[in-house]
Amino acid sequence: MSQEELKKRVGIESVKYIEDGMVVGLGTGSTAKHMVDEVARRIKEEGLQITAVTTSTQTQLQAESLNIPLKKLDEVDGIDVVIDGADEISAEFDGIKGGGAALLFEKIVANYARKIIWVVDESKMVDKLGKFPLPIEVIPFGSQNLYHRFESFGWNPRFRMNGVDKLVTDGGHHIIDLHLSRIENPQELAATLNNMVGVVEHGIFEQMVDIVLVGAEDGVKTLTV
Ligand code: 5RP
Repeated sequence: MSQEELKKRVGIESVKYIEDGMVVGLGTGSTAKHMVDEVARRIKEEGLQITAVTTSTQTQLQAESLNIPLKKLDEVDGIDVVIDGADEISAEFDGIKGGGAALLFEKIVANYARKIIWVVDESKMVDKLGKFPLPIEVIPFGSQNLYHRFESFGWNPRFRMNGVDKLVTDGGHHIIDLHLSRIENPQELAATLNNMVGVVEHGIFEQMVDIVLVGAEDGVKTLTV
């Protein structure tokens, strides 16, 4: 089974957690895309009644094109469940997110969610975080200096590019990816990044997730945290 098929399988499976009347957070990325397609199918074919909040322009456009009823985050009173992808999940259930550059809005939506579900294929499950470059969303003003500071810490930074230009996120910021190889202590690194001026948000999601659905060759595994 290809990685894409595993993503589709797990994306579809996750929608079973959605019930009538829920406010649902729709994540971003290629796995979440399958989940959004399945939400739309259930609305159309089964009459599922939900309101959704999106985590990126990309997902907003997809949801609009599929006629999923949408509201802005500030128009809802909390979110019942958010279903999102992840780039890496450690044995301690810390995660790296932001491969799709949507980490800031994803973290804000997750912060107001009563239940967080991540959908991944089995390649995302790791012992320690860090092989996947850690995305840091930064304010453009002074970001070259911040980049040099990351360099001086030995964090191997790279600006995320969109062609020849620095990528601009939905929030109007840049992303600097840190090529760390291995993150021994995600909590310590998160605390350091939280205290750095110019850093808007980082891609470490510290033990936020409630349920991880892992698409594997032999089916979907459910890991409840
Ligand atoms: C976007 C994300 C994505 O959820 C993450 O990159 C996983 O994406 P995919 O399902 O395409 O592998 O965090 O910012």
